[in-house]
Amino acid sequence: MISFEGATKIYGKSDRAALDHLTLTVGDGCVYGFLGPNGAGKTTAIRLLTGALRATEGKITVNGIDVAANPVEAKKLIGFVPDSQEMYDKLTGREYLNFMADLFGVSRADRKARSEKYLEIFEMTGAAGDRIASYSRGMKQKIASIGALIHNPPVWVLDEPMVGLDPRASFLLKEEMKNRAREGATVFFSTHVLEVAERLCDRVGIINRGKLILEGSPEELVSRRGDASLEELFLELTESGSTEEEGGSK
Ligand SMILES: Nc1ncnc2c1ncn2[C@@H]1O[C@H](COP(=O)(O)OP(=O)(O)OP(=O)(O)O)[C@@H](O)[C@H]1O
Ligand SMILES: [Mg+2]
Repeated sequence: MISFEGATKIYGKSDRAALDHLTLTVGDGCVYGFLGPNGAGKTTAIRLLTGALRATEGKITVNGIDVAANPVEAKKLIGFVPDSQEMYDKLTGREYLNFMADLFGVSRADRKARSEKYLEIFEMTGAAGDRIASYSRGMKQKIASIGALIHNPPVWVLDEPMVGLDPRASFLLKEEMKNRAREGATVFFSTHVLEVAERLCDRVGIINRGKLILEGSPEELVSRRGDASLEELFLELTESGSTEEEGGSK
């Protein structure tokens, strides 16, 4: 379970909150889609959750553990797939997985079993011995996803995970997200791909200019607006553009 309570982030000397009092709870067994236009605050929220950034205000907990007060304990509960594939290029895929397993103190037997399982699922077994430098963008994304699952975390956090994946890889990832949730994990991800969110998520939240503006199951949100699709709803709600800097008009 993850919980944001009034989580706020103001970067440096900015006069505007990149994340403005986000209050949101995502339960166990839930696939949660975090939607919003460019610059809405999705990555900021995720970086606060994973402990990469400190909140200016508010509290964030993972399975009841405060990420600011107990960062190490909280991090152990999270598997994180960031939005960029800046990785350890010199390692092979397998070495990277071992590195992640070492970091989280995963036993030999468990790491072997999980590596084999996920390499198979993501069709990466053949490439596991190659250096990450030689991987395509999608392959890097896949090995990062496997690395994030090596310690069997109860919370899986992914920032724009579908970007750069071909349809088959994207399908495999979505299946695994559903599987993890079925096993009781909390799966929290950001996306721009609205039709994916509509089909995959148990719940979605729409964020715009740092503020959560709508939250619920995709069916709920859509039924509240007659027969609008999630895409139409999203466009309507985020109409005024993404960021202050862009002035909100084209
Ligand atoms: N390191 C930073 N320093 C200052 N401002 C930042 C920083 N990172 C993000 N911002 C600002 O915070 C706001 C939210 O950015 P964020 O990256 O969280 O958006 P996002 O929803 O993830 O967007 P995208 O869909 O483009 O990934 C933007 O206005 C951005 O300019
Ligand atoms: Mg982002």
